[in-house]
Amino acid sequence: MGGIGNAFGPHPNNDASFNWGKTLDQFQINGGKRLKGTIRVNGSKNASLPLLAASLLTEGESVFRDLPDLSDTNHMMYLLEKLGVSVSRGAEGAIRVQVEDELNCHAEYELVRKMRASVCVMGPLLAKRGKAQVSLPGGCNIGYRPIGLHLQGLEALGADIDLVGGDIYLKAKKLRGAEVFLGGPFGSTVLGTANVMMAACLADGTTVIECAACEPEIVDLADYLNRCGAQITGHGTPRISIEGVDQLRGCEHQVIPDRIEAGTFIIAAAITNGDVKIENSRLDHLMALIDRLRIVGVNVERSADGIVQVSSSRRLEPVTITTQPYPGYPTDLQAQVMALLCLADGNSVITEKIFPDRFVHVAELNRMGAKLRKEGPTVIIEGVKNLVGAPVMASDLRASAALVLAGLIAKGTTHVSRVYHIDRGYDRIEQRLAAIGADIRRVPS
Ligand code: EPZ
Repeated sequence: MGGIGNAFGPHPNNDASFNWGKTLDQFQINGGKRLKGTIRVNGSKNASLPLLAASLLTEGESVFRDLPDLSDTNHMMYLLEKLGVSVSRGAEGAIRVQVEDELNCHAEYELVRKMRASVCVMGPLLAKRGKAQVSLPGGCNIGYRPIGLHLQGLEALGADIDLVGGDIYLKAKKLRGAEVFLGGPFGSTVLGTANVMMAACLADGTTVIECAACEPEIVDLADYLNRCGAQITGHGTPRISIEGVDQLRGCEHQVIPDRIEAGTFIIAAAITNGDVKIENSRLDHLMALIDRLRIVGVNVERSADGIVQVSSSRRLEPVTITTQPYPGYPTDLQAQVMALLCLADGNSVITEKIFPDRFVHVAELNRMGAKLRKEGPTVIIEGVKNLVGAPVMASDLRASAALVLAGLIAKGTTHVSRVYHIDRGYDRIEQRLAAIGADIRRVPS
């Protein structure tokens, strides 16, 4: 199959026909239906993005299985094509990538502004091609998201870095292994760890990353890189060591299940008091969520055949949650659990320690009859008997998911607009929820 131009249709800049998440679609949800049945979790978006970027480090072809078909992953594949990589989706749905030419090293503003994870091409481009020009990401709905730790780490490996006209220019003849500390005011950085770990794979000598991110997506990236010939140890712990090598060769890789999608589906089952089985999910990646849900009165069990079964009591207990770096409670499941706790019998408290302003969903949930009060990085959730359907607006990927969850249980009809936000991280979520009983459909605006 040809490149992304054939496999996915041209980029929306010149053709909106491809499903890059049409801007004006809405979801129409009639609440009150119990979810019942089996739903499968897709491959992880947040593993897929750095995995795709890592292919820039390699010679030969890589094949990624279970890489999800999302606007974010398609944006990354489009960026790879601009950087000289051939990208195609094979018959079995696997994504095949291979570097064809290394001329263009510029990740342009147009692409980076639409998907800030594009910054994780910095490390691979710098290590493999000796230079990179990457637009500094702009603002984000979930709060201030600098990348100073990424740059600090790459500089420690020997990169010369300049910021000119909104673009970061990085260059280095040959990177050298170093001790790198990646702890910031909110803990470590996931994509910063990815950038430095990828760059260190082709550096001269040993790199040690202290205060590295421990997320499963970093472990999955290191597993892929080691299969390509890298020498990474300690991944999944705060101290990662990388012995630089001369070359990496592409390989096949199965993307890990998306723990945030799995958590979203678990909460969907709980909020509708449903009876749902979830396939292809790693409970060991969701211990913090399961721990909190047990207190609320939601049981999440793995059956013999590896399928996860969700059941909840009618009466939901309030709970206190603070988001932390992995393995703490994930910030990417904060909005979703807030929707659930709107219906608990008492007051819950959520404190957001990763993105203190990540509360765009609070005002929208209050429009649906929730009683939420924001006090700085904390929201007090006073439980109510029920939510009421209303027109609401999505403005961030996970906030959109929270509004869908609220709509599933609200009395009456909820219209969620700007669902292109949710298309970034959930593939055809309305079809998959409808298949297990939700009354939800996509309405072109
Ligand atoms: C990743 O973003 C995820 N995205 C995010 O998921 C997730 O919320 C976040 O990690 C935290 O878990 C992808 O993996 C594609 P960070 P990332 O650098 O790596 C501060 C979703 O919904 N920081 O770990 O960009 C930063 O401001 C998305 O799927 C610095 O201070 O996040 C934040 O407060 C949203 N300086 C904290 O660290 C830096 O140089 C964690 O950010 C970098 C980050």
